[in-house]
Amino acid sequence: MRVFVTRRIPESGLEILRENFEVDVFEGDSPISREELIKRAKGCEGILPLLTDSIDADIMDKTGIKAIANFAVGIDNVDISAATKRTIPVTNTPGVLTDATADLTFALILAISRRIVESDKYLREGKWKGWDPLLLLGGDFVGKTLGIIGFGRIGKAVAQRAQGFNMNIIYTSRSRYLEEENEGIKFVSFDELLKTSDYVTIHAPYTEETHHLISEKELDMMKPTAYLINTSRGKLIDEIQLIKTLKEKKIAGAALDVFYNEPEINPELIELDNVVIIPHLGSASLETRTKMAIIAAENLVDALKGKRPKNIVNPEIYD
Ligand code: DGY
Repeated sequence: MRVFVTRRIPESGLEILRENFEVDVFEGDSPISREELIKRAKGCEGILPLLTDSIDADIMDKTGIKAIANFAVGIDNVDISAATKRTIPVTNTPGVLTDATADLTFALILAISRRIVESDKYLREGKWKGWDPLLLLGGDFVGKTLGIIGFGRIGKAVAQRAQGFNMNIIYTSRSRYLEEENEGIKFVSFDELLKTSDYVTIHAPYTEETHHLISEKELDMMKPTAYLINTSRGKLIDEIQLIKTLKEKKIAGAALDVFYNEPEINPELIELDNVVIIPHLGSASLETRTKMAIIAAENLVDALKGKRPKNIVNPEIYD
């Protein structure tokens, strides 16, 4: 059996695949084009795509693939219902990237609030004239309210970190989590979260329902001193409205790991000094990316060998 990997992934994952299949890996240094993907995946039984590869019905039909093992926890790049209709198993990599993503979320909260990037630039530009009681003042965390939108694995891991900073933690989600509520984390409505948080951090999957979850109305509800943090998916936020809000200084700032049209970044965003922007690095630790490669590879092996993979996203195909 042949499988196609759409970009180099950590070797430990490729080794598992090579022990089981003939493996073709795209070696380019930017995401593979749609045409090249179809050409290379055609005739392969399985594909291991990245979140940058849109795997839709057309690709499934043109390549004839029989299993899709996504190298990400987010699966918005795969048309799950098209895969399910064709009884193609789709898997993802949940769990292993929870801590790395929560750590990065906190790094962004710290960076935007304590003006780390701005201060680094200031120093490198030779502007520092000596210690100054009023230089580059940021905000404290203790007693501030962190509002978490989406309280799955990553949202909860962010809350754990915030407890260490003695923050007041609130969350909004479709489900209630009583264990965490017993620890003092408070459930609030979506609107209340926006109105009362000093930091709003998004940890929701991107779907049709969550498209532009944060738009003009929601941004208007936020406090003028609040920060917005996004390490989930760019299209959860109406980026044009966010830029307008930031320009008008209606909120204090934003720290973004994900963007509307990756890898393109809206040039207006780059111009703003009340934002921290980094290139989709949520899971980017060596340990985590290695685990993701192993899990994705194991999922593909199981799926193609007729075993129900551990991280199946469309289990109904096995019913
Ligand atoms: C994912 O796995 O969905 C992340 O966005 C990758 O960092």
